[in-house]
Amino acid sequence: MIEITVVSTIPSGIFPQKALDLAAKLGLPAAADPAQCRTPLLLAYTAEGLQLLHRPSPAKRPLPLLAIDFVGGKNGYRLLHERTIRQPLARAAGIRPGCRPTILDATAGLGGDAFVLASLGCQVTMCERSPLLAALLDDALSRAGQASSLAAQAASRLTLLAIDARHHLEAEEATYQTIYLDPMYPQRNQSALNRQTMRAIRSLVGDDDDSGQLLELARRRAKERVTVKRPQPSPHLGEAKPSHAIFMKSSRFDVYLAAERRFSTTCDTSPPP
Ligand SMILES: C[S@@+](CC[C@H](N)C(=O)[O-])C[C@H]1O[C@@H](n2cnc3c(N)ncnc32)[C@H](O)[C@@H]1O
Repeated sequence: MIEITVVSTIPSGIFPQKALDLAAKLGLPAAADPAQCRTPLLLAYTAEGLQLLHRPSPAKRPLPLLAIDFVGGKNGYRLLHERTIRQPLARAAGIRPGCRPTILDATAGLGGDAFVLASLGCQVTMCERSPLLAALLDDALSRAGQASSLAAQAASRLTLLAIDARHHLEAEEATYQTIYLDPMYPQRNQSALNRQTMRAIRSLVGDDDDSGQLLELARRRAKERVTVKRPQPSPHLGEAKPSHAIFMKSSRFDVYLAAERRFSTTCDTSPPP
């Protein structure tokens, strides 16, 4: 069990109270000042937004371990320079000229894939069952909502549900053309494991051992397709053979078309962004 204290590095304004409220919501301890924290990690309101930080050693700035930024960094770059429906993620999700499927990202994580799909014009619902990751996503979405018009437009197409996607998919109103799954990669995938971010997420959320079950449920509910991101090479999730796959250098998208989709298209048309 990782020990985390909720705090604000901004000593004034609304943030100290927001830290207390978030601590109560997540059932975590709160502190008035980062210097008072004794846990190895801090979930902190900072000038750059809500971040998971290593506890600062004396005289050193705290180091961010997990932070979501839809406006700058990698997401901001992709928004400005890689917003094309020809990219593998877009094709795997069923985006085509004049067609923007409704999408459930059932494994939202840090929201990078969902944000790309929303920036291409899709309405995307994200499910994230880790309350801590959901809090980081929620904060990043509100910051993006107040940013440049492109980031704000994409954020306006995203809805966050801080719940287990399996519970959401059991509800009758949960109907989506595409359901997208990107569960944690198996432990043996060293290239992903070596990345500090993936290690941090894994230490918070575990291994997603139930993702085969999530795939089965998603395949019963998706109107057009279920797309699963997998490391390359690796077996198919739940040993279920896909309709086709889209390959990239170190990963691939396994696409499971719904039975009726193999013969017709039900995609609503909407203008590209
Ligand atoms: C590898 S990360 C996803 C990364 C994401 N595609 C991105 O772009 O940042 C997997 C995430 O899915 C979440 N997850 C796994 N199963 C879930 C479920 N049944 N419901 C909701 N979230 C789930 C985990 O908590 C974890 O945060």
